[in-house]
Formats: sequence, C-alpha cells, structure tokens
Amino acid sequence: MRVLSGVQSSGTLHIGNYFGAIAQHIELQHAHECFFFIANYHALTSVQDAARLRQLTLDVALDYLALGLDPQKAALFRQSDVPEVCELAWVLCTVTGMGLLERGTSYRDKVENGLPASVGLFYYPVLMAADILIYNSDTVPVGKDQTQHIEFARDMAGYFNNTFGKPVFKLPTARLNEAAIVPGTDGRKMSKSYGNAIEIFGEPKAIARKYKSEFKTDSTPVEAPKDPDTCNLFAHLKLLAPPEELEDWRQRYRKGGVGYGHVKTRLVELYEARFGPFRERRAHLAAHPDEVEDILRAGAQRARAVAQRVMHDVRTACGIVTARS
Ligand code: ADP
Ligand code: TRP
Repeated sequence: MRVLSGVQSSGTLHIGNYFGAIAQHIELQHAHECFFFIANYHALTSVQDAARLRQLTLDVALDYLALGLDPQKAALFRQSDVPEVCELAWVLCTVTGMGLLERGTSYRDKVENGLPASVGLFYYPVLMAADILIYNSDTVPVGKDQTQHIEFARDMAGYFNNTFGKPVFKLPTARLNEAAIVPGTDGRKMSKSYGNAIEIFGEPKAIARKYKSEFKTDSTPVEAPKDPDTCNLFAHLKLLAPPEELEDWRQRYRKGGVGYGHVKTRLVELYEARFGPFRERRAHLAAHPDEVEDILRAGAQRARAVAQRVMHDVRTACGIVTARS
C-alpha cells in the first residue's frame, strides 16, 4: 500500500498537526511505502515572504526528522522538488467543473479568517489533488479538516479517467486518526493561523503560560461535577495522558472536586514528557542543515521517479506531446 501526505510550511507546527497527521505518518512508515512532503507551493497562498518561507520549509523537515521520521523508510521531500505536480494540476483543472471547487469549504473558511481571496487559494484543492494522484497513492492520512479535499481528489481522478477513457489514476482514500480535531487554547480548531496553537517544539515556559493563562475554560466551580466530553482541557488529556490516568481523570471530572488549575499543571508536565525528549535531536539537525538537505534531495529523487512515470501516462492519455514524454 502506498501512503502519501503533506503538511504546509505556513507556520510553526503544533500538536494539532502532530496528533491529527504527523503521528500517523511516523507510525505508518514501519509497515508501508510512504511519501511525505512539505507543501511549500500551498504555503505560498498565505506566506509571501521569501526568507520566512525558506525557514518554515526547513523547520517542517526538522520537526519531522526530530519526531522520528526515518528517511531510510519514508521519502521526505519538498513539494517544489517535483515540479510535475504543477503540470498535473493544470491538466486536472481542465476536466474539473467550477461547481466542484465552489463547494469547497476551506476556501470560504480561509477567506473569512483573513487570507487574501487569491485565485491560488481557490485552486488549492486542484494542486492538492495533483499531489495525491501523481504518486498513485492508496491512502492519505490527514486530519478531519482535509477529508473534503481527498473527496475532490477522487472526483478529479474519475473525471480524468472518464474523459480520456483510460484508468490512469487510482481513487485514494483518507485515513483519519482518533484525534480528528484538536482544539486550540480558545476552543476553536487548533490552527497555525488562529493564534491558538500549542507548538510541538515550544519553549517550556511559553507552553506553561499557554496552558495556564491562555487556555479558556468555563466558570464551573471546583466542587461541581463536570462533563469530560465537552471540556477542551480533557480533550488534551485524551491525547497526552496514559489510559489509566485518563480514566482516573474522567471519574474525578464526573464526581466533582477537580479544579481546572490542576488539570493545566498536569498537562504542562505531560506535554514536556511527550515532546521534551525530541528537542535534542532537533537541535542537532538544526546545526547540520547539509544533512537535512541530503535527506530532502534523496526523498525527492524517489518521489520524482514515480511522478515522472505517472505524468508520462497522463500526457499520453490526453494527447499532450512534449520533447521529454
Ligand atoms: P493548520 O490548520 O494549522 O494550517 P495544516 O492545514 O497545514 O494546519 O494541516 C496539516 C495537517 O495537520 C493536516 O493533515 C491537517 O488535517 C492536520 N491538522 C491541522 N490542524 C489540526 C487540528 N487542530 N486537529 C487535528 N488535525 C489537524
Ligand atoms: N492541504 C493540506 C493541509 O493544509 C496540505 C496538503 C497539500 C496535503 N497537499 C496534500 C495533504 C496532499 C495530504 C495530501 O494540511
């Protein structure tokens, strides 16, 4: 089975990205053929500052490698090192109706949240479909917010195959984690662009401040019983606490007597225990950017070989002639 996924280099990665997507990626590398890439062309829809985009692109690579991505197993690469995806995106948009993209919820959400309403932002799902289809991916592990995009990729694969009468593309499926949507400190979906994120590699003091002072909770008194399933702090306990401890918290919530302050203090400890051990490896990699560059280059070579074969079939199916196909 071939697994593919991407994460935009549009900001510092947070634990929503980790529990929604990256943790699955790292787990899947042991059993499947995996391709993971840094979606820097997608990031260009929100980051339009060259130095910052370069830095964020490197940061995503450092985060993945520090968290345990093994480049001997999974190919890790930059989207821009496989330029054929942009070519495929064009071909796909010629068989895709406007109506499909107009149904896209992410464009509307992003514009409502202040991103410029560029043509690129509207076209974003086409480029994402190209990312998925160009590697003949079977499965795409993502957070729940991306499922519509995967549906669109399936639709576009079908339009292409039907239009040209050749089964060039497989229809990929989404794979979701239990932690489908991780809430941020304000209770909305945690996102790089909402200012509500707990970073994976945050400074311990800053993370403690976020949990203790920025995390919004209701004003239920300490003695009162609380519903664990509607509490955002409890949602974080679910991610970070071992099962027996979680069960204990669940009962204490229901009984009453739990203060949110206690939960916050424990969350800071659990965060540190989970992510603290990866800091050293990240610092080592950050001090050796050439090693990281070699890894990205080798990953791109593996990915591009597949992409070039699929693109050859695409050009042949639709009658596009180039000197190289
Ligand atoms: P962001 O919304 O922070 O910009 P991205 O859109 O780059 O994040 O998402 C990268 C991956 O992380 C995607 O697979 C996405 O579904 C997942 N993801 C992002 N935010 C969350 C969240 N709050 N909960 C679960 N998964 C998330
Ligand atoms: N749109 C995805 C996100 O915001 C990133 C992405 C781009 C992606 N291309 C992809 C994810 C292909 C999976 C497959 O998270």
